[in-house]
Amino acid sequence: MKVLVVGGGGREHALVWKIAQSPRVKEIFCAPGNAGIASLARCVPIGAEDVRGLVEFARREKIDLTVVGPEAPLTLGIVDEFSAAGLAIFGPSARAAAIEGSKVFAKQLMAKYGIPTAGFAVFDDHAAARRYISEKGAPIVVKADGLAAGKGAVVCRTVEEALSAVEEIMVKGVFGEAGRRVVVEEFLEGEEASVLAFTDGETVIPMLPAQDHKQVYDGDRGPNTGGMGAYAPAPVCTPEVMRAVEEQILRPTVRAMAREGRPYRGVLYAGLMITPQGPKVLEFNARFGDPEAQPLLMLMASDLVEVMEAVLGGRLAETQVRWHEGAAVCVVLASGGYPGPYRKGFPISGLEEAASRHPGVVVFHAGTALAEGRVVTAGGRVLGVTARAESIEAAIAGAYAAVGEISFEGMHYRRDIGQKALQRKK
Ligand code: AMP
Ligand code: GLY
Repeated sequence: MKVLVVGGGGREHALVWKIAQSPRVKEIFCAPGNAGIASLARCVPIGAEDVRGLVEFARREKIDLTVVGPEAPLTLGIVDEFSAAGLAIFGPSARAAAIEGSKVFAKQLMAKYGIPTAGFAVFDDHAAARRYISEKGAPIVVKADGLAAGKGAVVCRTVEEALSAVEEIMVKGVFGEAGRRVVVEEFLEGEEASVLAFTDGETVIPMLPAQDHKQVYDGDRGPNTGGMGAYAPAPVCTPEVMRAVEEQILRPTVRAMAREGRPYRGVLYAGLMITPQGPKVLEFNARFGDPEAQPLLMLMASDLVEVMEAVLGGRLAETQVRWHEGAAVCVVLASGGYPGPYRKGFPISGLEEAASRHPGVVVFHAGTALAEGRVVTAGGRVLGVTARAESIEAAIAGAYAAVGEISFEGMHYRRDIGQKALQRKK
């Protein structure tokens, strides 16, 4: 069969890498892809948000299955458009993707169905938001309603910080329309985890629990990024926690979406705080996480294409998703300045050595491009060096050994990816 992957980051490289291993797949296309993806798939210069262009391409090439990486095309209705054209596509409809596209929708859904999450209030009036914050006090969290590239949530240590977040989001409009409404919510204490699940709208099959590293510097300091690294399985999610996540969060959410007339098919990602009172939802995403997809897909033993087809056919109840033993760790190498402004176009060296000298390592490309035959930097997150091994210790060692081969001007990365898992073992 012919498969099209939509997107061009590290998550999409991991998707293409995994899909390429399916004996059922003859040819893979990626729109727009990147320099790493180009070694496994035919990259086509169509933007991930050009829904009409993608439908036309899929029709012309007779694509059998399209897989959507990022959230933007999902909320724009790419799944609805493909389905209307009779084309098979993996992901939720626009009405279902609202669980990520609108924090207000997600919070109200959780409140209505008793799904554990932080206490909250919704505001479309900045003066009312300010009054509420002054009453509640700090710490407190202010979130823009709509998509803001992972930057829409501001964790505020003081009331002043929260008031200025309201000013930025609602008055100055730094996130545009996305900040017309805000959610102000209770600050939750605990350790974060990402639990992703496959669902066909009825059956829910959780993947291994993963953990992201959102802040730019070691020890979870500095501003938030798209994610500086991830690993799986995450021991903070004990079997008991996973049972709670499945029974109190994932299944009820999928049931709730069906009852609301928004049946959810695809990957449902629950961003969680594991609190002393149990897991609570910080946010839902309507897709694979980036960088969580990189370690998760390296650990997945089953054929991803078969699982996706079972989701599309409503046959997930008859399907098993198998995982390799051990652990996988992804270390993100970022451009100098990221998550702020950065320069692009620096040549990257050591890519071949990183992969060939270190067994179990795959270097997933994120922001890379080809220029005059060389791989150069082309984004904030440049590479995701990912290792799978028999233990988390060995996976960390493998990933960092491979990182040591790679360099580009301004490159920076966290040196403590996976440390929380090690601390738990002690
Ligand atoms: P979100 O986009 O909603 O996942 O928020 C981004 C990040 O902000 C999360 O990964 C957490 O680190 C932090 N955060 C969000 N909501 C809360 C909360 N209620 N309490 C504590 N931290 C939070
Ligand atoms: N790693 C966080 C996300 O994909 O949203």
